[in-house]
Amino acid sequence: MSRPMIAPSILSADFARLAEEAAAVKGADWLHVDVMDAHFVPNLTIGLPVVESLLKATDIPMDCHLMIEDPGRWAPPYAEAGAHNVTFHAEATDNPIAVARDIRAAGAKAGLSIKPGTPLEPYLEILRDFDTLLVMSVEPGFGGQSFIPEVLGKVRAVRKLVDAGELSILVEIDGGINTDTVEQAAEAGVDCFVAGSAVYSAEDPAAAVESLRRQALTASPHLRA
Ligand code: DX5
Ligand code: ZN
Repeated sequence: MSRPMIAPSILSADFARLAEEAAAVKGADWLHVDVMDAHFVPNLTIGLPVVESLLKATDIPMDCHLMIEDPGRWAPPYAEAGAHNVTFHAEATDNPIAVARDIRAAGAKAGLSIKPGTPLEPYLEILRDFDTLLVMSVEPGFGGQSFIPEVLGKVRAVRKLVDAGELSILVEIDGGINTDTVEQAAEAGVDCFVAGSAVYSAEDPAAAVESLRRQALTASPHLRA
C-alpha cells in the first residue's frame, strides 16, 4: 500500500525566506517549485539560480514545474542541478519525448503537464516516456485560484490505465487543492497533490500537509487497496 503524496508549492511562501519556508513543511513528500517565464504564462517567478540554492537548503525532493517556453533548452539543467522531478508543459513543445529523454538522461524523473483545457488523448501514447503526469486544475500562472473539477475526467482516465497495468505513471494535480477539494481529487485517482495557498496560509504548514494527506487517504480507493 502506498500513501498520498503532498507537494507544497512555494509560490505561496515568503520568497525572502525560502530555506525556512521549506523547513516549515517538514514531512512533505516533494517541494513544488513553480518556474514561470512571463511568456508561457503571464507571470514571472524564479529560475535556475534560486532552485540551485534551494536544493542546498533542503532535503525534500524537489518537484520543478516549468511553465516556460522552449523546455527543450531550459528543462534539462534543472535535472542536472539535482531536482527530483522536472515537469514541463505539453503545450510548450513539439517534441515532448525528446525533452523527457534529456531530463531522464540528466538524472531526474520527467513530468508532462497539461493545462485545464488541453485534452489527454493526443498524449496518451507518449505517457510511457514519462514518470509523472501533472494535471493542472487551474490555469497556470497564479496561486490561490479555484479548483476546476472538470479536469478530473483526465485523472480518472489515467488512473484506469494505471490500475489495469497498462501504464506506470504518477498522477499529480496542481491548483486549488485544499480541504474542500482534496477528497474529490483523491477519489478520482490522484497520487500526488500540490497545494500552495492551503499549506502556506495555514498557521502550521507542516500540520496542514499532514491533514491534507489524511483526508486524501480516506478518499483514495486506489491508495487503500
Ligand atoms: C499555478 C501553480 C501552482 C500554484 C498552486 O500556476 O502551478 O503550483 O502554486 O497554488 P494553489 O494551491 O494556491 O492553487
Ligand atoms: Zn505548479
